[in-house]
Amino acid sequence: MAELKLSNVRKSFGSTEIIKGVDLRFGTGEFVVFVGPSGCGKSTLLRMIAGLEQVSSGAIEIDGIDVTNTDPSRRGIAMVFQSYALYPHMTVEENMGFGLEMAGIPKGERQQIVRRAAEILHLEPYLQRKPKALSGGQRQRVAIGRAIVRNPKIFLFDEPLSNLDAELRVRMRLEIAKLHATIGATMVYVTHDQVEAMTLASRIVVLRAGHVEQVGAPMELYANPDNLFVAGFIGSPKMNFVPATLVGRGANGSALVSIPSLGIAEMAIAPRNGAADLPAGILVGIRPEHFRSDNAAGTTIPVSLRCDVTEQLGNVSYLYSQRDGDDSLIAEWRRPDRPQAGSRVSLWIDPSDCLLFDPTGPRL
Ligand SMILES: Nc1ncnc2c1ncn2[C@@H]1O[C@H](COP(=O)(O)OP(=O)(O)OP(=O)(O)O)[C@@H](O)[C@H]1O
Ligand SMILES: [Mg+2]
Repeated sequence: MAELKLSNVRKSFGSTEIIKGVDLRFGTGEFVVFVGPSGCGKSTLLRMIAGLEQVSSGAIEIDGIDVTNTDPSRRGIAMVFQSYALYPHMTVEENMGFGLEMAGIPKGERQQIVRRAAEILHLEPYLQRKPKALSGGQRQRVAIGRAIVRNPKIFLFDEPLSNLDAELRVRMRLEIAKLHATIGATMVYVTHDQVEAMTLASRIVVLRAGHVEQVGAPMELYANPDNLFVAGFIGSPKMNFVPATLVGRGANGSALVSIPSLGIAEMAIAPRNGAADLPAGILVGIRPEHFRSDNAAGTTIPVSLRCDVTEQLGNVSYLYSQRDGDDSLIAEWRRPDRPQAGSRVSLWIDPSDCLLFDPTGPRL
């Protein structure tokens, strides 16, 4: 269990700066998830926390102790990789106990520690098997077990479930959530999977090109993104960004906007900080699930969309409306009927669900 602090951490490979000054601070027992596009520096940052990669400048502290130049084995950290990296000639028990053996822990004690970890991970029936006789999910559990037996202060996971099929991912995701609840260690977890990030994280760190874009609890990022990038990155299918024109200011500093592509002549949306200056051209952010099929709440306003394609996924359907030179607009479709391609449909949106963005990025 440990606090983790990164202060202005930078990393260059040759003349290219990959991590561009990252400041982060996490408390004991947090489950931190790093997300961001491929190549943004997630693994590099994780490897620097582990000590597998030297920082170019800045400092890393664990429990208030500067470990920036501490050997990886002395940081109290265990890392689980996407490739399980098990020794093929060793049994599960030997794989899990190998680190302890190297550390000179006597055999009896070693067995006890390994068995306790095997119990947590439901690996008892497999202790005498070799990795080749295990499923992918079982191998991943052995890799996690190898981390657990070291009793680290901090667990680091780099896309640990990405080699598993969809069903197994769901099971292992729950296992990891349970593991965190059971042992309460600080965990830092890299993933590309939206659902893993939303469900596992106490806080999500959104990275882009070596910068932190926003840090926050999953629902905080979902409901209150700071900018277009975070708004578009968190949530699937992603938030729609619809061009709008500022036509005036209303009560309490609300923005009066027209949104031609939705057939809206004027609509009042509250900016985040009431009195801010607003540009003439604005993007309105609307999530697909915020298109409603009725005006039940009494606060919604009608919109008109051309339906180009519908997708029925079983539990939910999506309507796609093509926009000139842009991504399609995506709206959730909850009515039982399926609209004809090319027809116009009427839906409703609630202004309080709509977010305002400056086209250059910042949330307004
Ligand atoms: N040893 C290295 N030498 C030079 N460049 C490197 C090295 N390791 C990583 N990079 C570069 O640093 C950038 C960040 O890589 P990193 O592996 O951290 O990305 P990532 O966010 O984990 O991506 P992914 O989601 O694809 O795993 C990439 O552009 C990568 O090519
Ligand atoms: Mg990576």
